[in-house]
Amino acid sequence: MCGLLSAQKVLSGEVAARTFFVRPPEPVPQLLVSSPAESIYIGKTKLLKVPFFWNPAKLINPHLCIVGITGSGKSYFVKAFTTRARLVFNANILILDWAGEYVEWVRLAGGKVISFGENGINLLDPGQATPEIRMRQVISALEMLTDLASFPSQRSLTEEAIEKAYLQRGLSLNKAGQQKKPPTLAEVHAILKKDAKRSQAASEAARRVNSLLLSSGKSFSHSTIGIDSILSGLVCIDLHSLPTESLRSLAGLTILQFIKDRMRSEQFQAEGRPRLFVVVDEAWKIASDERSDVISIVREGRKYGFGLIIASQNPTDIHKSIFSNAGTTFIFRLTLASEREYLRSSLSYSDYYEEASHSMGVGQALVHIEPAAAIPCPRNFIIDKVDGEPLLEVCYICGGGMNLEMEKEFLVRKLHNFGLTERQVAHLLGRFERGSFTLDAPTFILELEKFGHSRAAIIMLLRDLGAHEKDLLRLFSSAFQKGKAKISVELSTEKEKEKSRRQKNKP
Ligand SMILES: Nc1ncnc2c1ncn2[C@@H]1O[C@H](COP(=O)(O)OP(=O)(O)O)[C@@H](O)[C@H]1O
Ligand SMILES: [Mg+2]
Repeated sequence: MCGLLSAQKVLSGEVAARTFFVRPPEPVPQLLVSSPAESIYIGKTKLLKVPFFWNPAKLINPHLCIVGITGSGKSYFVKAFTTRARLVFNANILILDWAGEYVEWVRLAGGKVISFGENGINLLDPGQATPEIRMRQVISALEMLTDLASFPSQRSLTEEAIEKAYLQRGLSLNKAGQQKKPPTLAEVHAILKKDAKRSQAASEAARRVNSLLLSSGKSFSHSTIGIDSILSGLVCIDLHSLPTESLRSLAGLTILQFIKDRMRSEQFQAEGRPRLFVVVDEAWKIASDERSDVISIVREGRKYGFGLIIASQNPTDIHKSIFSNAGTTFIFRLTLASEREYLRSSLSYSDYYEEASHSMGVGQALVHIEPAAAIPCPRNFIIDKVDGEPLLEVCYICGGGMNLEMEKEFLVRKLHNFGLTERQVAHLLGRFERGSFTLDAPTFILELEKFGHSRAAIIMLLRDLGAHEKDLLRLFSSAFQKGKAKISVELSTEKEKEKSRRQKNKP
């Protein structure tokens, strides 16, 4: 027997390089695979091609964080996920849409779109909470979104004025569910204005409230958005027509506060499956501030059967405690090392994933899951491609005399044939989606030029997409005055070429 086995000195690095010794870094199948009746299918894992079914019963909570650069596939994922969540869990979906990019899709999917601006919420409406709690929520939102916290005397004067406004309307500060009509910001402004002559701080506070009133129109003075109606079915609250990022955030925060109070007052029961998903896409400040209700909603977790889906192109817009408390994180392509570092400090993942995340394609994501039970296995894996079911969508190229209409799939095919990479197509489609599937023709052309395509080639593409000669002439002569001469030359050369081609082909 002696001599058949011989010991060999091998460096540990060499052993590690022999991957057949090591289980591939993916969670065990019992964590990834579930019955389609109780879970949402996402896509296959990259290494072992195991289908990943998102099952909230196997995770610490039903919250999801999604990050990735523009065009990496965040909204596509949200659409596929929420479509299936409606089917599998019969869940209600509320989308707080900062950029108006879900509007068209929600309409196509048979949901309801509510435009914030035309409709609104009275900021001082206590909803299910007491006036005092509502007052504190309003002040905390203003502190988060404006510099009110740096002016303590203005802050306390505003607080006092809100309290006074409630009392003037006959509401008790500590009672919930009162039927009396709540005051509005205009009444708070009038109270502060009265004191403005005596105090500089009151005058400043009045100015602050007034500018909020002026910039928001009636959207924060009258409650026309009923909380019950937005928590049932598929609903998109389109915030994009509010004039500033702060006002959009104020609206988003207010809606989340109403939902949180409603959940608590009615003791939402999870019954093992999520009842409501709220999507907050490109949420800027409201997810990054420690005081934000987003954080308390995530912490309260699953007991209410309430799942929060937070998406952002910049991970630093999402507070670290959200990442470390969310049951699932999807990391689509991120280009900045600093952003990846920020994530890595909350969700530990290996150099292998750091390496892989550099070359993620559209729809590909590194996924981190926090299992409900302590199962000793990796918690990270890569999804090869989020498997979506895009609805039949129509894209429009308009403006400059052009009005082209085509199915999205047709456009994608033509763009691929034209020579655009997958990433370039995704970028361009993202532009369409942000404009409710409409892109103006000059922007379409400029985007293609940025990818290095000549005008002559773009003209051919537009023809291929159905543009007529007269449309092209009108477009290039009106929209691109500076390059007019050059373009008409290109157009006429193209025409000449076509003519000679036709002549050549004649028998
Ligand atoms: N998993 C996917 N499969 C197929 N196409 C995708 C996928 N993810 C994204 N896309 C395409 O890329 C485009 C941009 O994706 P989108 O979700 O809008 O990006 P983001 O929200 O990250 O900016 C979409 O129009 C969609 O057609
Ligand atoms: Mg998006």
